[in-house]
Amino acid sequence: MGKLPQTIREYKTRGDKPQNLRLEQASLSPPRASEVTVKIRAVSLQYRDLLVAHGRYAGAIGDLVPCSDCAGEIVAVGADVKRWKVGDRVCPNFALDHVCGDVTEETKATALGGNIDGVLREYINVPAYSIVRIPDHLSYEEASTLPCAALTAYSALMGPRPLKGGDYVLALGTGGVSTFAAQIALASGANVIVTSSSDEKMEVARKMGVQHRINYEKTPNWDEEVRKITGGRGVDHVIEVGGPNTIQKSSRAVKDSGWVHIIGFVAGGEQGIPVETAVWNAITFRGMLVGSVMQFEDMNRLLAARNIHPVIDKVFTFEHAINAYTYLESQKHVGKVVIQVSKD
Ligand SMILES: NC(=O)c1ccc[n+]([C@@H]2O[C@H](COP(=O)([O-])OP(=O)(O)OC[C@H]3O[C@@H](n4cnc5c(N)ncnc54)[C@H](OP(=O)(O)O)[C@@H]3O)[C@@H](O)[C@H]2O)c1
Repeated sequence: MGKLPQTIREYKTRGDKPQNLRLEQASLSPPRASEVTVKIRAVSLQYRDLLVAHGRYAGAIGDLVPCSDCAGEIVAVGADVKRWKVGDRVCPNFALDHVCGDVTEETKATALGGNIDGVLREYINVPAYSIVRIPDHLSYEEASTLPCAALTAYSALMGPRPLKGGDYVLALGTGGVSTFAAQIALASGANVIVTSSSDEKMEVARKMGVQHRINYEKTPNWDEEVRKITGGRGVDHVIEVGGPNTIQKSSRAVKDSGWVHIIGFVAGGEQGIPVETAVWNAITFRGMLVGSVMQFEDMNRLLAARNIHPVIDKVFTFEHAINAYTYLESQKHVGKVVIQVSKD
């Protein structure tokens, strides 16, 4: 075990906007017997991190170290840890105690960067059971994008009715979750339809191999277009990140007995789930909350087997982390926005 620094740098939310984030000094304790110390190399941002920084995230504990998603290298191992060693490349899971099975109150209480302090810092101590090995083909920047966005897309598509080759998947927008959903679906032999506000962003999707693209600004009735693309049948799975303002159309775009995975609410609005459509078309609406360590390991096997590289739009330095927040908020990105915490 190398010598650990006694003080580290970490960001703290201070107030109610990303511009108020402060880079501060904190102390680092040695890992407890069941923990490892991870030197964080990269952090990726989520839409959730914007909500936390704006003071609009319901579960947040007040001023805290933000962000849930990181990748790094183990630099110290607690006395009882057998499975990991110094030098291993790892990611902590989004909710540290969600090792397997269903989401519970207890697992939710361990969600990084919201319910407990997060990862926008140079080092972190985490339980050894909370981490997964980074696939060899991924850099730290790429791996930092996996814990929330990628795992949410994976656990949606590989949930109770797993995706089959030849299925149709509809992903709304070209943000982090939807771009991973498109990649995972394509790698699994599905047909993918992506909607976006921007033709330029859809060009990125086309280059990824996405077969069908709909500009939802130019085609406001995109649900009808989805029906046409699928020969009137509708899609098997919807990656629903829009929320109330898109759920009605998502419900009309999904096939009878299809699945609408309710993931986010970037489009705003107040409409509810269309109950009559749900009943008559036997649609399953499934609320989603990221995934477990076990699902993370399953996903990493798929990423490695199909050589999937996350789509990273831009990388910011640790010192310019606030600019990364501003960039994410502008919604100019496709895929993920990353903060490099340390090069070596
Ligand atoms: N439940 C969970 O476990 C979980 C996990 C991760 C994320 N989330 C949630 O999922 C949502 C997406 O997260 P993210 O990290 O992927 O966000 P993100 O990277 O910020 O992406 C947001 C994208 O949504 C698209 N969008 C915005 N308004 C839209 C509209 N009216 N219709 C369709 N698309 C629209 C935009 O793409 P275009 O510019 O291409 O239109 C935008 O870039 C957020 O609400 C987040 O909180 C939930």
